[in-house]
Amino acid sequence: MMTFVYNEEKRRYAAMDEGQEIGRLLFSKSGEKTLVFKHLIVEPEHRGKGVAGQLLKYAMEDVAKRGLKVVPVCPYVRKAFDENAEYRQNEAVAKKVGVIVGSLRKESFSRKVAEKMSDMLPEGYAGELVEIGQLPLYNQDFDEGNGPESYDAFRAKIASLDGLIFVTPEYNRGTSAVLKNAMDVASRPWGHNKWGGKPAMVVGVTPGALGAMAAVIDVRKTLAFLNVPVMGQPEAYLSNAGEMFKEDGSFASEEVKGFVQKLVDSYVKFAQKTLG
Ligand SMILES: Cc1cc2nc3c(=O)[nH]c(=O)nc-3n(C[C@H](O)[C@H](O)[C@H](O)COP(=O)(O)O)c2cc1C
Repeated sequence: MMTFVYNEEKRRYAAMDEGQEIGRLLFSKSGEKTLVFKHLIVEPEHRGKGVAGQLLKYAMEDVAKRGLKVVPVCPYVRKAFDENAEYRQNEAVAKKVGVIVGSLRKESFSRKVAEKMSDMLPEGYAGELVEIGQLPLYNQDFDEGNGPESYDAFRAKIASLDGLIFVTPEYNRGTSAVLKNAMDVASRPWGHNKWGGKPAMVVGVTPGALGAMAAVIDVRKTLAFLNVPVMGQPEAYLSNAGEMFKEDGSFASEEVKGFVQKLVDSYVKFAQKTLG
């Protein structure tokens, strides 16, 4: 028999069948009272049996009981909200901040920082990690109209965002090729730049001592050309990333946590000014 659980620590609602997790609704938090529903996924062998709908129904009932609100970021959840007035009663309006990570590494420090920052955004701001690893290398020939499908989805996603946080590693004193590729993809075809006007923060992360400063400057240079207003101060150089987190994924100290929170708070003030 299928059962449902809320798992605060793993940030998910899960559908369980005989002890197996067969579906999950992943969320992040926006302040204390809002959940951002990011992805709803059902294991392939359990699709077509209404698991997704039942899981979402359970989650929405639970949210109502807890007095929470939901930002529907996942396309499936968005569609369900559009079709269900009851769900919309618990919808929160939020500025969408895309968090873009310049590393594809599984245990990436940049990704860990990005996930934390996304969760640290206050009420009214919903953070969402935007994936870039699926984008083939940009080739200007694609601008003739036969580009990869993943380009269309990525460009539409960037267009839908209100703000941006870039978290970059440093590769050979520059940003990573994957991040530059993503910036190029959503900047083209010429005249269809999707980045412009969205307030941004650029964060450098490195296990080294120099804060990935060269990578941050690299990203800032491209964003200036793409007409993206970037927060000037405080600068966000996170060194010694290997010591930033405990094994359980939490911050190693209150000091580090406070520093990262200060960056996020500064970004929100900057974004508020820019967005009006
Ligand atoms: C090709 C390559 C070049 C690197 N160059 C630099 C560098 O210029 N500056 C630096 O601080 N770290 C450099 N590193 C080390 C990275 O900071 C380290 O691998 C880091 O963990 C990558 O970020 P991630 O944890 O988000 O994947 C380099 C790593 C690689 C693989």
